[in-house]
Amino acid sequence: MRALVDRNIVLGVSGGIAAYKACELVRLLTTAGAQVRVMMTRNAQEFITPLTLQTLSRHPVATATFDLTQESEIGHIRLADTADAIVIAPATANLIAKAANGLADDIVTTVLLAAQCPIAFAPAMNVHMYAHPTVTENLARLRARGAVIIEPGAGALACGYEGQGRLADPAIIVEELAAMLSAHDLAQERILITAGPTQEAIDPVRFISNRSTGKMGFAIARAAWRRGAEVRLIAGPSTLPTPHGVERIDVTSAGELLSATASNFPWCSTLIMAAAVADFRPERAAPQKIKKNSSGMTLALAPIADEMPRLAAKKGDRIMIGFAAETEELEVNALDKLRRKQLDLIVGNDVSRADAGFAVDTNIVTMLGADGGRETTPKLSKEEVGDLILDRLLAIRARRPAPSELRATSRS
Ligand code: CTP
Repeated sequence: MRALVDRNIVLGVSGGIAAYKACELVRLLTTAGAQVRVMMTRNAQEFITPLTLQTLSRHPVATATFDLTQESEIGHIRLADTADAIVIAPATANLIAKAANGLADDIVTTVLLAAQCPIAFAPAMNVHMYAHPTVTENLARLRARGAVIIEPGAGALACGYEGQGRLADPAIIVEELAAMLSAHDLAQERILITAGPTQEAIDPVRFISNRSTGKMGFAIARAAWRRGAEVRLIAGPSTLPTPHGVERIDVTSAGELLSATASNFPWCSTLIMAAAVADFRPERAAPQKIKKNSSGMTLALAPIADEMPRLAAKKGDRIMIGFAAETEELEVNALDKLRRKQLDLIVGNDVSRADAGFAVDTNIVTMLGADGGRETTPKLSKEEVGDLILDRLLAIRARRPAPSELRATSRS
């Protein structure tokens, strides 16, 4: 993940049952390319051992402020100085209170006081503790000083209660950290993204669809949110989880996808059409399941009108980016679509390759701009390709102002 590669993340673990989830957090952060240094309170070590986190992070774990070996280089100052970001997960009510009041009586709170980098707290506690006015006030103080509070989720808690207090999903904590470490260069954009396949009903149990899984469009949505954009994602049937911070609109058929795109178009400043939209649908969907018969069957198909030219006519300062999934003559076909659909940029990919296109995590694309620009990427993760497409969007925007009604509003 671009924002986390080679970044130094200091993870502070305080003493709650959710401390065990720090293992998953360390694993996700290291997989994303970050260097993770863990520090633990004494109580955290009652729930999970430093050895576990040391093994997962591949770095020594700091547990004491006055340990002679750990402190030979005044370790707490070094930890604070080398951190690109600090996250406390889980953050107990006690640790939050100490941090809000500037106490520094253990390694975690001492590093927090010495730190100058962005700091996030991921609270986890009993539902009544989390709702207590003292905790609310302490979190408000931390927020007012610039800390990011990663809200706990709701659900069954280890203490037996139901409600808000569960440590945020480690994947969400990673997304928040990536957003903290990203330049918010898309803060002025409202990006509407279509993704995934469409399904055209033949009868109540059968449909026509394609091999798209939505991975590329979802990856762009994640990258755009991290970079500060407001994002709406119109998703055809897909099992992928909703990207953090993104508003998802589920659709099934091409008709639904195109009408959701048209109704959200006035809201957006940029439209990115990564969906594999059906070009034909059965002329009539049978109301009952079609029975087999031995003489075979012919399915009459009706074309689905392309909404893009109609939207392009109303685009104003909006930027429109399309995809061209091709199996032959990639550039010729992509250029034809760029012109026909009046796009600013088209992203062509050769879906006949095993390592690009549908259902895989990597892609190789050729981006062709209306300005004549041309760039072919090497094989990259879809997240990295998403960031490169967004870089192109920024370059186009630099030459064209954002729609005037959007200039005053941004997410943060
Ligand atoms: N697209 C769209 N609405 C449609 C069809 C396509 O918005 N009804 C968008 C796709 O999301 C994609 C681009 O247009 O961004 C190109 O889609 P593609 O299916 O490759 O183009 P078609 O015009 O349908 O051409 P083809 O003959 O290759 O199917």
